[in-house]
Amino acid sequence: MLDKSDIENIFKLELDHLKDGVKNSKNLYHTFTLSTLDKESPKSRTVVLRNVETGPLKIFFNADYRSPKTKQLINNPQCSALFYDINRRVQIRMNCSSTINYKNHISAKIWDKTALQSRKCYMGPYTPSSTLDTYHPNIPLEYAKKDPDRANSEQGYVNFVHVELSIIDLDILQLHHDGHIRFKVVGEDLSYVAP
Ligand SMILES: Cc1cc2nc3c(=O)[nH]c(=O)nc-3n(C[C@H](O)[C@H](O)[C@H](O)COP(=O)(O)O)c2cc1C
Repeated sequence: MLDKSDIENIFKLELDHLKDGVKNSKNLYHTFTLSTLDKESPKSRTVVLRNVETGPLKIFFNADYRSPKTKQLINNPQCSALFYDINRRVQIRMNCSSTINYKNHISAKIWDKTALQSRKCYMGPYTPSSTLDTYHPNIPLEYAKKDPDRANSEQGYVNFVHVELSIIDLDILQLHHDGHIRFKVVGEDLSYVAP
């Protein structure tokens, strides 16, 4: 049987896996599925985990200010983040409230550390997710095969957002042949949930 210290330990271990996922692209928590609300209908997509903070728990990703996901979060900050590690058979589902860091000291600090190769993704002439008449990679064509220099890359900052997701509650599910383990975390409180 499980006691509270067992699920506390699982929670701590999953936080360590999340933190490792920020820098380690082989960790399956390096990306997660973000679901937002577009009027009445949900929209999901993959994003890269850029940072994790604990006490209180927050996760972060980057996006284009012009993108539908950013617009959806501005209209409705409530969203869901979903992680699944198929090797360890662990799912984490988070209920989140978002804050868009745009042209502020937080986005400036993250932009400063963003590689030139990544910066060019924010220099696209078209609104991300808009329909195109002919194919275009939506990066300046001169940088298709090389990176911009630092001065030119600054043009991308106007489209850059660093999105902060404050975790309202989360649900961890570990799959086991002899009985799945599931619990929820709200602030400091952990409670068992029927798998
Ligand atoms: C592995 C992977 C990682 C991605 N990471 C990001 C990301 O960090 N930020 C982002 O805005 N889009 C990211 N994308 C693209 C989105 O999944 C999505 O296709 C696109 O941004 C459309 O977004 P929208 O919902 O705003 O229309 C990623 C896609 C893949 C396949």
